[in-house]
Amino acid sequence: MLLHQSTWPEIEAFLTRSKTVIIPIGSNEQHGPTGLLGTDWMCPEIIATEAQKTADILVGPTFNIGMAQHHLGFPGTISLRPSTFIAAIGDWTRSLAAHGFDKIYFLNGHGGNVATIEAAFSELYAEASFLRQPRGFSLKLRNWWDLKGVMRLAEAQFPVGHGSHATPSEISVTQWAYPNAIKTADYSPKIAPTGPIREALDFRARYPDGRMGSDPALASPQKGGELVNQAALSLIEEVASFGGEPFLV
Ligand code: NI
Repeated sequence: MLLHQSTWPEIEAFLTRSKTVIIPIGSNEQHGPTGLLGTDWMCPEIIATEAQKTADILVGPTFNIGMAQHHLGFPGTISLRPSTFIAAIGDWTRSLAAHGFDKIYFLNGHGGNVATIEAAFSELYAEASFLRQPRGFSLKLRNWWDLKGVMRLAEAQFPVGHGSHATPSEISVTQWAYPNAIKTADYSPKIAPTGPIREALDFRARYPDGRMGSDPALASPQKGGELVNQAALSLIEEVASFGGEPFLV
């Protein structure tokens, strides 16, 4: 079930069956010469949308702008600074919790978001901790590639040239979902360099076409479909387990 394609009475009815909601969260940022700018928010959205076709789970609207300051040297990137991102995640969560959702699961598509999302969770829990009161909801963050079986599959599909940014696995997922938006380009070296992540101009100097350690030409829609199927199955399993966790206070 998709929250944005539902009515409020449908959400009210869902809350009598389950108080768990999945929020795809990502980033709109450069993904090398062939990767779509939306790759990092599209991947978790694609996986969660696929999962809700076969399970009674609720998927909220995608939080599609994240912490991508280091990609601002490339046109099309949109970034929130960490403090803005923390404030926005806080209000998304408070809104959902106010309706009675007590298990809020963020399915993430951008490694650069992790530190800030975890900080946002700590801010939310701290509001209860300072009052010595139960918070009343639990939060979970999972990167889609860390879902059970996904990284093992990606390593088998791409034994060399996977890298860490503009990877063939994430690009395969978008190619599977949006075959009309598949891009090609000549680039070299075949496998991009790796190194540290600092500010935007430093990033562009180190990684001139935007890739890190990857060869995105290895991507294919078929491999993307395999990744989506594995990720959707594992997501359904993990969300059921999270939803069933008891509250101790
Ligand atoms: Ni990415």
